[in-house]
Amino acid sequence: MASSLSLRLLMFLLPYFVMALGSQPMSKKPVPETTLEADELSFTYYEKTCPNMEAIVDRKVSKWIKEDYTLAASLIRLHFHDCAVRGCDASILLNHDGSERWAKASETLRGFELIDEIKQEMEKKCHKTVSCADILTAVARDATVKIGGPFWEVPYGRKDGRVSLAKEADLVPMGHENITYLIEFFQSRGLNLLDLVVLSGAHTIGRSTCGSIQQRLYNYTGNGKPDPTINTWYLNYLRRKCRWASEYVQLDAITPTKFDSMYYTNLERKMGLLSTDQLLYSDSRTGPIVSALASQPTLFYQQFAVSMVNLGNAQVLTGDEGEIRSNCNYVNA
Ligand code: HEM
Ligand SMILES: *[C@@H]1O[C@H](CO)[C@@H](O)[C@H](O)[C@H]1NC(C)=O
Ligand SMILES: *[C@@H]1O[C@H](CO)[C@@H](O)[C@H](O)[C@H]1NC(C)=O
Repeated sequence: MASSLSLRLLMFLLPYFVMALGSQPMSKKPVPETTLEADELSFTYYEKTCPNMEAIVDRKVSKWIKEDYTLAASLIRLHFHDCAVRGCDASILLNHDGSERWAKASETLRGFELIDEIKQEMEKKCHKTVSCADILTAVARDATVKIGGPFWEVPYGRKDGRVSLAKEADLVPMGHENITYLIEFFQSRGLNLLDLVVLSGAHTIGRSTCGSIQQRLYNYTGNGKPDPTINTWYLNYLRRKCRWASEYVQLDAITPTKFDSMYYTNLERKMGLLSTDQLLYSDSRTGPIVSALASQPTLFYQQFAVSMVNLGNAQVLTGDEGEIRSNCNYVNA
Protein backbone atom coordinates (compact mmCIF):
# COMPACT_ATOMS: atom_id res chain seq x y z
CA MET A 1 0.00 0.00 0.00
CA ALA A 2 2.63 2.50 1.10
CA SER A 3 4.93 1.66 -1.79
CA SER A 4 2.16 1.87 -4.38
CA LEU A 5 1.28 5.29 -3.02
CA SER A 6 4.81 6.59 -3.33
CA LEU A 7 5.00 5.11 -6.83
CA ARG A 8 1.87 7.06 -7.71
CA LEU A 9 3.41 10.23 -6.36
CA LEU A 10 6.54 9.62 -8.36
CA MET A 11 4.51 9.06 -11.53
CA PHE A 12 2.67 12.27 -10.79
CA LEU A 13 5.92 14.17 -10.49
CA LEU A 14 7.53 12.68 -13.58
CA PRO A 15 6.28 15.34 -16.00
CA TYR A 16 7.65 18.01 -13.67
CA PHE A 17 11.07 16.40 -13.72
CA VAL A 18 11.09 16.32 -17.47
CA MET A 19 10.15 20.01 -17.55
CA ALA A 20 12.74 20.87 -14.91
CA LEU A 21 15.47 18.96 -16.70
CA GLY A 22 14.51 20.52 -20.01
CA SER A 23 15.19 23.97 -18.59
CA GLN A 24 18.63 22.96 -17.25
CA PRO A 25 21.53 24.85 -18.78
CA MET A 26 23.47 22.69 -21.18
CA SER A 27 26.37 25.04 -21.59
CA LYS A 28 28.86 22.23 -21.98
CA LYS A 29 27.30 21.21 -25.27
CA PRO A 30 29.06 22.53 -28.37
CA VAL A 31 27.79 25.96 -29.29
CA PRO A 32 26.57 26.33 -32.88
CA GLU A 33 28.66 28.71 -35.03
CA THR A 34 25.80 31.18 -35.39
CA THR A 35 25.31 31.93 -31.69
CA LEU A 36 27.72 33.94 -29.58
CA GLU A 37 29.39 31.78 -26.97
CA ALA A 38 29.16 34.65 -24.50
CA ASP A 39 25.38 34.53 -24.72
CA GLU A 40 25.31 31.36 -22.68
CA LEU A 41 26.13 30.70 -19.08
CA SER A 42 28.90 28.21 -18.59
CA PHE A 43 30.40 26.10 -15.82
CA THR A 44 33.89 27.06 -16.99
CA TYR A 45 33.25 30.78 -17.50
CA TYR A 46 35.96 31.98 -15.05
CA GLU A 47 38.29 29.00 -15.49
CA LYS A 48 40.91 31.10 -17.26
CA THR A 49 40.09 34.64 -16.14
CA CYS A 50 39.55 34.06 -12.42
CA PRO A 51 40.22 30.47 -11.42
CA ASN A 52 39.97 31.29 -7.69
CA MET A 53 36.59 32.92 -7.95
CA GLU A 54 34.70 30.13 -6.19
CA ALA A 55 37.40 29.70 -3.55
CA ILE A 56 37.23 33.41 -2.68
CA VAL A 57 33.45 33.28 -2.33
CA ASP A 58 33.53 30.07 -0.32
CA ARG A 59 36.12 31.36 2.15
CA LYS A 60 34.18 34.55 2.88
CA VAL A 61 30.81 32.83 3.15
CA SER A 62 32.27 30.27 5.58
CA LYS A 63 33.78 32.97 7.74
CA TRP A 64 30.62 35.07 7.94
CA ILE A 65 28.25 32.15 8.55
CA LYS A 66 30.53 30.82 11.27
CA GLU A 67 30.11 34.17 13.01
CA ASP A 68 26.37 34.36 12.39
CA TYR A 69 24.49 31.21 11.39
CA THR A 70 21.28 33.12 10.66
CA LEU A 71 22.99 34.88 7.77
CA ALA A 72 22.83 31.73 5.60
CA ALA A 73 19.06 31.97 5.18
CA SER A 74 19.28 35.68 4.44
CA LEU A 75 21.83 35.08 1.68
CA ILE A 76 19.59 32.53 -0.05
CA ARG A 77 16.70 34.98 0.14
CA LEU A 78 18.85 37.83 -1.21
CA HIS A 79 19.55 35.79 -4.36
CA PHE A 80 15.81 35.09 -4.77
CA HIS A 81 14.94 38.78 -4.45
CA ASP A 82 17.63 39.61 -7.00
CA CYS A 83 16.40 37.05 -9.55
CA ALA A 84 12.74 37.92 -8.95
CA VAL A 85 13.19 41.45 -10.34
CA ARG A 86 14.71 41.93 -13.81
CA GLY A 87 16.34 38.53 -13.49
CA CYS A 88 19.56 37.66 -11.66
CA ASP A 89 21.37 40.89 -12.47
CA ALA A 90 22.38 42.19 -9.03
CA SER A 91 19.80 44.98 -9.34
CA ILE A 92 18.91 44.31 -5.70
CA LEU A 93 22.37 45.60 -4.68
CA LEU A 94 22.14 49.03 -6.32
CA ASN A 95 22.04 51.59 -3.58
CA HIS A 96 20.43 54.81 -4.70
CA ASP A 97 17.19 56.68 -4.06
CA GLY A 98 14.22 54.64 -5.26
CA SER A 99 16.23 51.47 -5.98
CA GLU A 100 14.93 47.94 -5.19
CA ARG A 101 16.99 47.88 -2.05
CA TRP A 102 14.87 50.64 -0.58
CA ALA A 103 11.51 49.04 -1.38
CA LYS A 104 9.14 47.93 1.38
CA ALA A 105 9.61 44.31 0.24
CA SER A 106 13.38 44.63 0.79
CA GLU A 107 13.21 45.95 4.37
CA THR A 108 14.47 42.79 6.07
CA LEU A 109 16.99 41.69 3.42
CA ARG A 110 20.48 41.14 4.83
CA GLY A 111 23.95 40.21 3.64
CA PHE A 112 24.88 43.29 1.61
CA GLU A 113 28.09 43.85 3.59
CA LEU A 114 29.32 40.33 2.87
CA ILE A 115 28.76 40.81 -0.87
CA ASP A 116 30.74 44.07 -0.68
CA GLU A 117 33.61 42.34 1.11
CA ILE A 118 33.70 39.54 -1.48
CA LYS A 119 33.60 42.04 -4.33
CA GLN A 120 36.51 44.01 -2.85
CA GLU A 121 38.60 40.87 -2.65
CA MET A 122 37.51 39.87 -6.14
CA GLU A 123 38.62 43.23 -7.57
CA LYS A 124 42.05 42.76 -6.00
CA LYS A 125 42.51 39.26 -7.42
CA CYS A 126 40.61 39.52 -10.71
CA HIS A 127 40.04 43.14 -11.66
CA LYS A 128 36.71 43.87 -13.41
CA THR A 129 36.11 40.22 -14.22
CA VAL A 130 33.48 38.74 -11.93
CA SER A 131 29.95 40.17 -11.97
CA CYS A 132 28.03 40.96 -8.79
CA ALA A 133 25.19 38.79 -10.12
CA ASP A 134 27.52 35.78 -10.33
CA ILE A 135 28.81 36.50 -6.82
CA LEU A 136 25.25 36.53 -5.44
CA THR A 137 24.51 33.23 -7.18
CA ALA A 138 27.66 31.52 -5.87
CA VAL A 139 27.00 32.88 -2.38
CA ALA A 140 23.47 31.39 -2.34
CA ARG A 141 24.87 27.98 -3.32
CA ASP A 142 27.61 28.09 -0.70
CA ALA A 143 25.19 29.26 2.00
CA THR A 144 22.93 26.31 1.18
CA VAL A 145 25.81 23.84 1.47
CA LYS A 146 27.02 25.35 4.78
CA ILE A 147 23.70 24.64 6.46
CA GLY A 148 23.49 21.06 5.24
CA GLY A 149 21.64 21.57 1.96
CA PRO A 150 22.59 20.08 -1.41
CA PHE A 151 25.54 21.11 -3.59
CA TRP A 152 25.13 22.01 -7.25
CA GLU A 153 27.44 23.31 -9.98
CA VAL A 154 26.73 26.97 -10.71
CA PRO A 155 26.87 28.12 -14.35
CA TYR A 156 28.45 31.59 -14.65
CA GLY A 157 28.57 34.51 -17.03
CA ARG A 158 25.77 36.78 -15.77
CA LYS A 159 26.20 40.50 -16.32
CA ASP A 160 25.06 43.23 -13.92
CA GLY A 161 22.04 45.36 -14.76
CA ARG A 162 21.93 49.14 -14.74
CA VAL A 163 18.32 49.60 -13.67
CA SER A 164 16.76 49.12 -10.24
CA LEU A 165 13.30 50.35 -9.29
CA ALA A 166 11.66 50.04 -5.86
CA LYS A 167 8.18 49.76 -7.34
CA GLU A 168 9.24 46.60 -9.21
CA ALA A 169 10.63 45.05 -6.02
CA ASP A 170 7.25 45.57 -4.39
CA LEU A 171 5.78 43.03 -6.83
CA VAL A 172 7.85 40.27 -5.20
CA PRO A 173 5.42 38.08 -3.22
CA MET A 174 5.41 38.86 0.50
CA GLY A 175 3.09 36.18 1.84
CA HIS A 176 -0.37 37.66 1.31
CA GLU A 177 -0.85 36.61 -2.32
CA ASN A 178 -3.02 33.89 -3.82
CA ILE A 179 -1.49 30.84 -5.52
CA THR A 180 -2.51 32.00 -9.00
CA TYR A 181 -0.38 35.11 -8.48
CA LEU A 182 2.58 33.02 -7.30
CA ILE A 183 2.29 30.59 -10.22
CA GLU A 184 2.14 33.43 -12.74
CA PHE A 185 4.95 35.34 -11.04
CA PHE A 186 7.22 32.30 -11.23
CA GLN A 187 6.09 31.32 -14.73
CA SER A 188 6.94 34.72 -16.17
CA ARG A 189 10.48 34.17 -14.87
CA GLY A 190 10.75 30.75 -16.52
CA LEU A 191 10.02 28.79 -13.34
CA ASN A 192 7.34 26.09 -13.26
CA LEU A 193 4.98 24.71 -10.60
CA LEU A 194 7.58 22.30 -9.28
CA ASP A 195 10.15 25.10 -8.96
CA LEU A 196 7.61 27.19 -7.05
CA VAL A 197 6.87 24.48 -4.50
CA VAL A 198 10.47 23.29 -4.18
CA LEU A 199 12.00 26.76 -3.85
CA SER A 200 9.37 27.70 -1.26
CA GLY A 201 11.00 24.86 0.69
CA ALA A 202 13.81 27.34 1.41
CA HIS A 203 11.46 28.34 4.22
CA THR A 204 12.73 25.24 6.01
CA ILE A 205 15.25 27.65 7.49
CA GLY A 206 15.27 31.30 8.42
CA ARG A 207 12.80 33.62 9.99
CA SER A 208 10.09 36.14 9.32
CA THR A 209 9.09 39.30 11.07
CA CYS A 210 5.83 38.96 12.93
CA GLY A 211 4.50 41.84 10.85
CA SER A 212 4.27 39.49 7.87
CA ILE A 213 1.71 37.29 9.65
CA GLN A 214 -0.11 39.75 11.93
CA GLN A 215 -3.26 39.70 9.81
CA ARG A 216 -3.33 35.88 9.83
CA LEU A 217 -3.25 35.84 13.63
CA TYR A 218 -5.98 38.36 14.35
CA ASN A 219 -7.90 39.67 11.37
CA TYR A 220 -7.43 37.47 8.31
CA THR A 221 -10.18 38.62 5.98
CA GLY A 222 -11.09 41.77 7.85
CA ASN A 223 -13.74 39.93 9.91
CA GLY A 224 -11.79 40.18 13.19
CA LYS A 225 -10.96 36.44 13.15
CA PRO A 226 -7.71 34.54 12.62
CA ASP A 227 -7.02 32.41 9.54
CA PRO A 228 -9.14 29.28 10.18
CA THR A 229 -6.56 27.08 8.46
CA ILE A 230 -3.96 27.53 11.25
CA ASN A 231 -3.52 24.62 13.66
CA THR A 232 -4.97 25.76 17.02
CA TRP A 233 -1.90 24.92 19.05
CA TYR A 234 0.30 26.72 16.51
CA LEU A 235 -1.99 29.77 16.50
CA ASN A 236 -1.68 30.11 20.28
CA TYR A 237 2.09 29.66 20.06
CA LEU A 238 2.37 32.36 17.39
CA ARG A 239 0.16 34.80 19.28
CA ARG A 240 2.39 34.43 22.35
CA LYS A 241 5.56 34.71 20.29
CA CYS A 242 4.46 37.68 18.21
CA ARG A 243 3.80 40.49 20.66
CA TRP A 244 5.32 43.06 18.34
CA ALA A 245 5.33 43.30 14.55
CA SER A 246 9.11 43.84 14.63
CA GLU A 247 9.80 40.58 16.46
CA TYR A 248 11.01 37.47 14.62
CA VAL A 249 9.52 34.00 14.36
CA GLN A 250 11.00 30.90 12.69
CA LEU A 251 9.58 29.91 9.30
CA ASP A 252 9.88 26.22 10.26
CA ALA A 253 8.71 25.87 13.88
CA ILE A 254 9.85 22.26 14.29
CA THR A 255 13.41 22.16 12.84
CA PRO A 256 14.16 25.87 12.31
CA THR A 257 17.90 25.59 11.61
CA LYS A 258 17.92 22.29 9.74
CA PHE A 259 17.77 22.04 5.95
CA ASP A 260 15.16 19.30 5.64
CA SER A 261 11.68 18.60 4.28
CA MET A 262 9.97 19.47 7.58
CA TYR A 263 8.56 22.60 5.92
CA TYR A 264 6.25 20.37 3.85
CA THR A 265 5.33 18.14 6.79
CA ASN A 266 4.40 21.30 8.69
CA LEU A 267 2.05 22.32 5.89
CA GLU A 268 0.26 18.97 6.16
CA ARG A 269 -0.22 19.73 9.88
CA LYS A 270 -1.57 23.25 9.19
CA MET A 271 1.62 24.72 10.56
CA GLY A 272 2.76 26.87 7.66
CA LEU A 273 3.89 30.30 8.89
CA LEU A 274 2.96 32.45 5.91
CA SER A 275 -0.46 32.36 4.35
CA THR A 276 1.21 31.58 0.99
CA ASP A 277 3.05 28.62 2.54
CA GLN A 278 -0.19 27.09 3.81
CA LEU A 279 -2.05 27.77 0.57
CA LEU A 280 0.52 25.69 -1.35
CA TYR A 281 -0.90 22.69 0.50
CA SER A 282 -4.59 23.46 0.10
CA ASP A 283 -4.42 24.47 -3.58
CA SER A 284 -5.19 21.58 -5.92
CA ARG A 285 -2.41 22.58 -8.33
CA THR A 286 0.39 22.56 -5.75
CA GLY A 287 -0.96 20.38 -2.92
CA PRO A 288 0.03 17.02 -4.48
CA ILE A 289 3.61 18.26 -4.89
CA VAL A 290 3.72 19.31 -1.22
CA SER A 291 2.59 15.81 -0.18
CA ALA A 292 5.14 14.16 -2.45
CA LEU A 293 7.99 16.25 -1.03
CA ALA A 294 6.86 15.73 2.57
CA SER A 295 6.96 11.95 2.11
CA GLN A 296 10.21 11.86 0.10
CA PRO A 297 12.92 14.00 1.77
CA THR A 298 15.58 12.94 -0.74
CA LEU A 299 13.40 14.13 -3.57
CA PHE A 300 13.26 17.60 -2.02
CA TYR A 301 17.00 17.64 -1.42
CA GLN A 302 17.82 16.71 -5.02
CA GLN A 303 15.18 18.84 -6.69
CA PHE A 304 16.15 21.90 -4.62
CA ALA A 305 19.52 21.86 -6.39
CA VAL A 306 17.85 21.63 -9.81
CA SER A 307 15.35 24.38 -9.05
CA MET A 308 18.04 26.68 -7.65
CA VAL A 309 19.91 26.38 -10.96
CA ASN A 310 16.67 27.30 -12.70
CA LEU A 311 16.25 30.29 -10.39
CA GLY A 312 19.81 31.41 -11.10
CA ASN A 313 19.14 31.30 -14.85
CA ALA A 314 16.08 33.51 -14.64
CA GLN A 315 16.18 36.30 -17.23
CA VAL A 316 19.96 36.71 -17.01
CA LEU A 317 21.92 39.31 -18.95
CA THR A 318 24.81 37.85 -20.93
CA GLY A 319 27.38 38.90 -23.53
CA ASP A 320 27.05 42.57 -24.43
CA GLU A 321 24.03 43.11 -22.20
CA GLY A 322 24.76 44.79 -18.89
CA GLU A 323 28.21 45.29 -17.38
CA ILE A 324 30.65 44.08 -14.74
CA ARG A 325 30.27 46.56 -11.91
CA SER A 326 33.39 47.72 -10.06
CA ASN A 327 31.34 48.32 -6.93
CA CYS A 328 28.18 46.29 -6.45
CA ASN A 329 26.39 49.30 -4.98
CA TYR A 330 26.67 51.50 -8.05
CA VAL A 331 26.53 51.25 -11.83
CA ASN A 332 29.83 52.03 -13.55
CA ALA A 333 30.38 55.68 -14.42
C1 HEM B 1 6.91 31.71 -3.20
C2 HEM B 1 6.83 32.93 -2.79
C3 HEM B 1 7.55 33.45 -1.60
C4 HEM B 1 7.00 34.24 -0.64
C5 HEM B 1 5.58 34.75 -0.59
C6 HEM B 1 8.01 34.50 0.34
C7 HEM B 1 7.84 35.29 1.45
C8 HEM B 1 8.75 35.46 2.46
C9 HEM B 1 8.56 36.29 3.62
C10 HEM B 1 7.33 37.15 3.90
C11 HEM B 1 9.65 36.15 4.41
C12 HEM B 1 9.90 36.86 5.75
C13 HEM B 1 10.24 38.31 5.52
C14 HEM B 1 10.26 39.07 6.83
O1 HEM B 1 9.19 39.39 7.35
O2 HEM B 1 11.36 39.35 7.35
C15 HEM B 1 10.55 35.24 3.75
C16 HEM B 1 11.76 34.81 4.25
C17 HEM B 1 12.61 33.97 3.57
N1 HEM B 1 12.45 33.53 2.29
FE1 HEM B 1 10.81 33.63 1.16
N2 HEM B 1 9.16 33.86 -0.02
C18 HEM B 1 8.93 33.22 -1.19
C19 HEM B 1 9.83 32.48 -1.93
C20 HEM B 1 11.13 32.27 -1.53
C21 HEM B 1 12.14 31.64 -2.36
C22 HEM B 1 11.95 31.20 -3.79
C23 HEM B 1 13.27 31.56 -1.60
C24 HEM B 1 14.63 31.03 -1.95
C25 HEM B 1 14.85 30.06 -2.80
C26 HEM B 1 12.95 32.11 -0.30
C27 HEM B 1 13.81 32.15 0.77
C28 HEM B 1 13.52 32.74 1.99
C29 HEM B 1 14.38 32.62 3.14
C30 HEM B 1 15.63 31.78 3.25
C31 HEM B 1 13.82 33.41 4.14
C32 HEM B 1 14.37 33.67 5.55
C33 HEM B 1 15.25 34.90 5.49
C34 HEM B 1 15.98 35.21 6.77
O3 HEM B 1 15.97 34.43 7.73
O4 HEM B 1 16.61 36.30 6.81
N3 HEM B 1 11.66 32.55 -0.31
N4 HEM B 1 9.97 34.86 2.56
C1 LIG C 1 -5.25 36.71 -7.04
O1 LIG C 1 -4.55 37.91 -6.81
C2 LIG C 1 -4.54 38.77 -7.93
C3 LIG C 1 -3.58 39.91 -7.63
O2 LIG C 1 -3.65 40.34 -6.32
C4 LIG C 1 -5.97 39.25 -8.21
O3 LIG C 1 -5.99 40.15 -9.28
C5 LIG C 1 -6.81 38.01 -8.51
O4 LIG C 1 -8.17 38.40 -8.69
C6 LIG C 1 -6.70 36.96 -7.42
N1 LIG C 1 -7.30 35.73 -7.88
C7 LIG C 1 -8.12 35.01 -7.14
C8 LIG C 1 -8.59 33.73 -7.75
O5 LIG C 1 -8.45 35.34 -6.02
C1 LIG D 1 -10.01 44.11 10.67
O1 LIG D 1 -9.78 44.60 9.38
C2 LIG D 1 -10.83 45.36 8.86
C3 LIG D 1 -10.57 45.66 7.39
O2 LIG D 1 -9.22 45.63 7.07
C4 LIG D 1 -10.96 46.61 9.71
O3 LIG D 1 -12.00 47.43 9.20
C5 LIG D 1 -11.27 46.20 11.14
O4 LIG D 1 -11.30 47.34 11.97
C6 LIG D 1 -10.22 45.22 11.66
N1 LIG D 1 -10.66 44.68 12.93
C7 LIG D 1 -9.84 44.58 13.97
C8 LIG D 1 -10.40 43.94 15.17
O5 LIG D 1 -8.69 44.99 13.96
